[in-house]
Amino acid sequence: MKVLVVGSGGREHAICWKLKQSPRVTELYCAPGNAGIGKDAECVPVSAEDIPGIVALAQEKAIDLAVIGPEVPLAMGIVDALEAVGVKTFGPNKKCSQLEASKAFTKSFLARHDIPTAKYKEYTDKQALIDDIGIFGWPMVIKADGLAAGKGVVLAENAVEAEAAIEDMMGSRVFGEAGDKIVVEECLRGVEASMLCFVDTNTIVPMEPAQDYKRILDGDRGPNTGGMGSYSPSLVFNDALMEQLRKEILEPTLAGFQADGLDFRGVLFIGLMIGKDGPKVIEFNNRFGDPETQSVLMRLDTDLLDVFEAVCDDRLAEIELKWKPQTACCVVAASGGYPGSYEKGKVITGLDDVDEDIVVFHAGTAFDADGNIVTSGGRVLGVTALGETHDEAREKAYDNIEKIAFEGMQYRKEIGIVGTI
Ligand code: AMP
Ligand code: GLY
Repeated sequence: MKVLVVGSGGREHAICWKLKQSPRVTELYCAPGNAGIGKDAECVPVSAEDIPGIVALAQEKAIDLAVIGPEVPLAMGIVDALEAVGVKTFGPNKKCSQLEASKAFTKSFLARHDIPTAKYKEYTDKQALIDDIGIFGWPMVIKADGLAAGKGVVLAENAVEAEAAIEDMMGSRVFGEAGDKIVVEECLRGVEASMLCFVDTNTIVPMEPAQDYKRILDGDRGPNTGGMGSYSPSLVFNDALMEQLRKEILEPTLAGFQADGLDFRGVLFIGLMIGKDGPKVIEFNNRFGDPETQSVLMRLDTDLLDVFEAVCDDRLAEIELKWKPQTACCVVAASGGYPGSYEKGKVITGLDDVDEDIVVFHAGTAFDADGNIVTSGGRVLGVTALGETHDEAREKAYDNIEKIAFEGMQYRKEIGIVGTI
């Protein structure tokens, strides 16, 4: 089969790396890909957000299956566009993509279907919001409604911080129209975990859960990022909690999709807060998580192409997911300055020095004119290891990230230490 993966981050590298292992994949393309993905797939320089360009590429290469990585093209309707020309595509359509593209849409879905989540209120009027500052107590969770590359959530500790966040979003419009509507939530307490699920119109199947490290600094300090590291399995889950999740969250979500006419086929990423009064949904994303995918797919034994095809054909119930018992740990190396502004074009050294069983997933990398691999994004690499124990996976990831260097490189030192999130 000829497969096209759309995107250019660590998640897409992990998807390509795993698909390449499928004996049924005969040609593998990635648009636009990055310097590392080029080892596993043929990269074609078409932007993930250039929908007509991706459609033309899929037609030109006679693609049998397209797989969409990032949320922006999904929200733009790339799946609808590809399916309109007969290209089978893994990922939710535009209507379903509102589950990530609008936090208000998801909150009303959760409320309507009695799925546990934080109390919330939505605002389009700045003054009404300012009048309500502190409505659910402190910290005040303030969210831009639309897509903001993982940076649109502020946990304000006091009225001054809350007003500043509201001014940024609704006044200066730092997230553009994504911040013209704001959702305010009660602050949930507990342990966060990421549950990625394969979903078709009949079935929802959770993958092994993972932990993600969202803040830039150790001690869970500093601003939120797209994710600075991950490990899987998460140790927060046991059989009783899984049963509760199934009854209170997974089954009602699938039933809600069916009731609302949402033909979801793809990955539903459920951000969970597991607190004293049970698990609650923090958010839905409609795609694989980054960097959760790097850890989760390292452990998947099932052929990923079989899973993708089954989802597209509404045959997911026939698939049994098999997992390696080991732990995977992914540590992200980011550019100096990220998640704020950062420089690009820094030469990366040491990539060939890592141990054989380590996978370095590339995120923001490119080739310079001299053929060097250089930085080209905020998150640059995800150094990923499998270990018999959590500690072994973590130590292997850190032993190897230390062999890699570029000017300004920063990474968290406590990824994989249980209880550090
Ligand atoms: P989101 O983009 O909705 O996942 O939010 C980003 C991060 O903000 C989450 O991963 C949580 O760490 C935090 N967060 C979001 N909503 C809440 C909430 N209601 N209570 C506590 N923390 C939250
Ligand atoms: N790691 C969080 C996300 O992919 O949204």
